[in-house]
Amino acid sequence: MHQVTQKDMNIDNGSLKYQRILLKLSGEAMMGNKKFGIDPEFIFYLADEIKELRRSKVDTVIVIGGGNIFRGVAGSEQGIDRVTADYMGMLATIFNGLALQDALNKKGMETRLQTAFEMKAIAEPHIRKKALRHLEKGRVVITAGGTGLPYVTTDTAAALRALELKCQAIFKATGVDGVYQKDPKNDPGAKKFETLTLDEASKNDNIRIMDKSAIELCRENNIEIVVFNIYKKGNLKRSALGENPGTTIKIPGSS
Ligand code: GTP
Repeated sequence: MHQVTQKDMNIDNGSLKYQRILLKLSGEAMMGNKKFGIDPEFIFYLADEIKELRRSKVDTVIVIGGGNIFRGVAGSEQGIDRVTADYMGMLATIFNGLALQDALNKKGMETRLQTAFEMKAIAEPHIRKKALRHLEKGRVVITAGGTGLPYVTTDTAAALRALELKCQAIFKATGVDGVYQKDPKNDPGAKKFETLTLDEASKNDNIRIMDKSAIELCRENNIEIVVFNIYKKGNLKRSALGENPGTTIKIPGSS
């Protein structure tokens, strides 16, 4: 396990591979070791990881899922109208956003939570220029509520936010060590990719690390995707330094 060293902590912005990233967290990650809902212990661990990342002044946008509380697709399969179920899923992402914001604030970080649709009593509405200003001022921006539209996944919301907020990469935080040729759960011998190009990821139907429309948006707009295991301490910061602890899905021809 990589320990973040004193040297890492004093690193200046010039040593970073990425100056602005979007961290995509799944709702499931918020469960930590629990079977449902939010695991406070994991959220505080995550807050420490994000604080470590912020010490090196990486501009940080966070898009968070809601599957730990409610999943639109699953709700519609159980008979809830799909659009209603998707709105319920979007609300779940706001639960998670509030919990993460609280943990980040408790660790002393400045944050702003924005929602894709107005819930003005509890958070700012998402306004792109305001989000950009928050980033310039060193605030972590959490955008919740997906895109505010049904039939769209939080992966696609993440790609759109990365695009409009000029992020260089999406950091896809997962429970696996990277992208594998086959599912490592079914095939323990499956080989992990160190790198792939966005073109390769887009063409390969076995690569399901993000949904196709999100990968396509990244491919068309040259946003790298860094996939790593968030449960390994230090991996988030190592990803920003370009150490590639998992798999990097790169712009073709980039180093
Ligand atoms: P700067 O003006 O750039 O310094 O940004 P700021 O976010 O500090 O200023 P603003 O006055 O917009 O916000 C002050 C606080 O109010 C922040 O915690 C915001 O997140 C919060 N805030 C701003 N707009 C809204 C809103 O529509 N609803 C809610 N609930 N909070 C808001």
